[in-house]
Amino acid sequence: MLLLKTIAELRSELNKKKEKKVGLVPTMGALHMGHLSLIERARAENDLVVVTIFVNPLQFAPTEDLEKYPRQLEKDCNLCETYAVDLVFAPTVEEMGIDGEQTTIVMPPSTMTEVLCGSFRPGHFQGVATIVTKLLNIVQPTTAYFGQKDAQQLAIIRRLVADLNIPVEIKNCPIVREKSGLALSSRNQYLTPKEREQASVLFRSLNKALAAFCQGENNCDKLVEIVKQELGNVPQIRIQYVELVHPLTMIPLTEIETEGLLAIACFLGSTRLIDNLMLRQPIIAIDGPAGAGKSTVTRRIAQELGLIYLDTGAMYRAVTWLVMHSGISLADEAAISALVSEAKIDLTPTHVQINGHNVTKAIRTPEVTANVSKVSAQAAVRSKLVTLQKQYGEKGGIVAEGRDIGTQVFPAAEVKIFLTATAKERARRRLEDLKNQGHSEVDLEQLVHDIEQRDYLDSTRQISPLKKAVDAVEIITDGMSIEEVTNKIISLYHLKISSKPEYEAY
Ligand code: PAJ
Repeated sequence: MLLLKTIAELRSELNKKKEKKVGLVPTMGALHMGHLSLIERARAENDLVVVTIFVNPLQFAPTEDLEKYPRQLEKDCNLCETYAVDLVFAPTVEEMGIDGEQTTIVMPPSTMTEVLCGSFRPGHFQGVATIVTKLLNIVQPTTAYFGQKDAQQLAIIRRLVADLNIPVEIKNCPIVREKSGLALSSRNQYLTPKEREQASVLFRSLNKALAAFCQGENNCDKLVEIVKQELGNVPQIRIQYVELVHPLTMIPLTEIETEGLLAIACFLGSTRLIDNLMLRQPIIAIDGPAGAGKSTVTRRIAQELGLIYLDTGAMYRAVTWLVMHSGISLADEAAISALVSEAKIDLTPTHVQINGHNVTKAIRTPEVTANVSKVSAQAAVRSKLVTLQKQYGEKGGIVAEGRDIGTQVFPAAEVKIFLTATAKERARRRLEDLKNQGHSEVDLEQLVHDIEQRDYLDSTRQISPLKKAVDAVEIITDGMSIEEVTNKIISLYHLKISSKPEYEAY
């Protein structure tokens, strides 16, 4: 790991590592498990990981804790070393060129910066937007990682990256909490042990509202009132705001139609605390290689939990069938792109239709199976189907399976499973299926070979390769019955939504 203090040094190091996937984690230091979860994710998904440590004066008001903000560069560097970070960039204020009055400031839309925290911290989000823009330009990462803990910051950064056409993918990571539910924050250092205990009321209050929402309450005034009442049980808490807004636009909601971000800011003593929770019906995302039994298990889970089943594999198979049926060459991406952009897919729990053809059975033939990887790896096919899948998932309340559902389509799913089995076991199951369908001529060795080949293609392809999400639970189903796998996932689901912290740090 290298510690770099100047832009020139950083650029020179980055130039040596051209053509690689670079993950950026911007921080203000005083690293804790929240930051480290972002770093872990960046490490898992990139060739090179850059962490920036810079206490940005532009985002502190004169009355705020800029001077007092914890600074511990040596300790942070040791942590970065342990987490296999490649480059730590810790510039001075002068190096970042923001010491003078005359500096360009990035101004995101006021509808996003003057609500929630922004109405109490004038100029804060312009300061964040400016420094993040500079860091993205300096590092030019493939992907930059931000925590859901600062949900307003995240929404603003997503918006600025889109509006300013900055070529980077922004990924959000779940909130890391203490066992008590208190969200980790560098500012928790200011809390006394007693206050630390009291601070757990924030997460408790959010969960009370979540419980009411899950039972059908979607009126925002009522949900906000539930939070305020619970916070009221700790008289030392002084509420700054409790609000329910749209998670992308920050526009206040009156009713939750699809999803809402419930956000709190309050003071405990002189420490300002923030927390938030997404309110929406949960999503279970089941990823994993072809033939691991995803669709059978997913269908059962949907039935048992009363969720909608989204069979994304069937969507890709339907498009593959359509391409083959239309006589287009599998290599003709332009023609396939035109075909898929016009395609109309209807999915019901029992039927799959494409352009009016009932293809429920036709999409399961060995010919379609052999071609589905090739077709689904094409950018136009993916983009059309991912958009469609996200639409199905907007309201939550679904269980979806596919090879990249948890990583690409629903990265914020409440429950993520990576369902897998050895190639041999998958071949054995496939052979049984094929025999049941009357195909007796298939050879087991050949099937194992085909499956290994397909795994290789799926996990090395450029677009959305098959990969276990960092926060997915892996289940290897060799030797397990369908009931056992289903029950395991259902119990994980109950555990996850029973108001336990999403991610425990300790
Ligand atoms: P900082 O507060 O150091 O946070 C750096 C990143 O860590 C942010 O993306 C934040 O959301 C994330 N983070 C903090 N606590 C977390 C937790 N408990 N769980 C998950 N993620 C958590 O946010 C900033 O710095 C600055 O505004 C910055 C973006 C660096 C610009 O100066």
